[in-house]
Amino acid sequence: MPIQWFPGHMHAARRKLEETLADVDVLIEVLDARIPAASRNPLLETLRRSRQRPCLKLLNKADLADPARTAEWIAAFEREEGVRALAVCAKNPADVRRILPACERLAPHRSEPTKPLRLMIAGIPNVGKSTLLNALLGRKAAKVGDEPAVTKSVQRYDLPGLRSITDTPGLMWPKIEFDADGYLLAACHAIGRNAVAEEEVAAFLAETLIAQGYADRLTARYRLDPTGMNGDEIVAAIGERRGCRRKGGELDQEKAANILLQDFREGKLGPLTLETPASRAAMIAAHEAALLAEADDQPTRR
Ligand code: G4P
Repeated sequence: MPIQWFPGHMHAARRKLEETLADVDVLIEVLDARIPAASRNPLLETLRRSRQRPCLKLLNKADLADPARTAEWIAAFEREEGVRALAVCAKNPADVRRILPACERLAPHRSEPTKPLRLMIAGIPNVGKSTLLNALLGRKAAKVGDEPAVTKSVQRYDLPGLRSITDTPGLMWPKIEFDADGYLLAACHAIGRNAVAEEEVAAFLAETLIAQGYADRLTARYRLDPTGMNGDEIVAAIGERRGCRRKGGELDQEKAANILLQDFREGKLGPLTLETPASRAAMIAAHEAALLAEADDQPTRR
């Protein structure tokens, strides 16, 4: 299924990001700890590398993620050059207090009055940027728009101790390379209802939960045995359990899908992570193999 959303005005947004990055010392990239790779913006990574800026990756919503897998992701990210990673819950003040010292360690040369530490916070929509920014500032900052066209919404704030932080709009990139990422982003609500149908997302989520070894969570919450079921069947079984029926009596698959998605988003299935460094590598390898097979099937042109 091709996943589409606003691709417009990307040039303006990219230019603005590039300009902003040029004037900061450390990029704080906010990720969703439940989907640490799918919630990375490849555009941001490209710009960061070309500007050679160090990056603190915040695996936010760590309270909703599987701690052992979060640790695996942190280790994987920290193998990248110029990158440190922290697991945080933006609503936990003790976690938030660890952020600025980690940024300082990434730019030790920016500690004098003539060289204040300049930070920039960025990430895709709904990963918790505003919540984190408010926690860092200790007050409610105006929310910047999530529309890349609204480039003037880039906003700089002073922090205590000669530091500043620039807030940027939640930015999506024009084309998601892997369909799986689109579903994962939709499951975590980073892309909205219009982009992908909830029923498809719920079926994908159910299959991912099984593939990631979380079948027991479905059993515990819905008292069902998902063995041998595909995603649609699992969603239907949830609907049966919860009495989701339309007027005529037939199963209301959409309602069942919403139950699963809402439970997942609210953490009612327990802390879960939908991808690991190993599953990510396997997904990319399968994607590349499929592309090669497709290319082999094309008739040779003269
Ligand atoms: P954004 O600026 O990146 O778009 O994200 P924002 O801070 O608006 O956060 C999006 C949603 O994620 C909010 O929930 C927020 O409360 C929640 N959130 C942010 N950080 C964390 C975290 O570390 N853990 C958990 N569990 N949730 C987090 P909401 O339902 O839209 O609003 P609210 O009613 O919770 O405020």
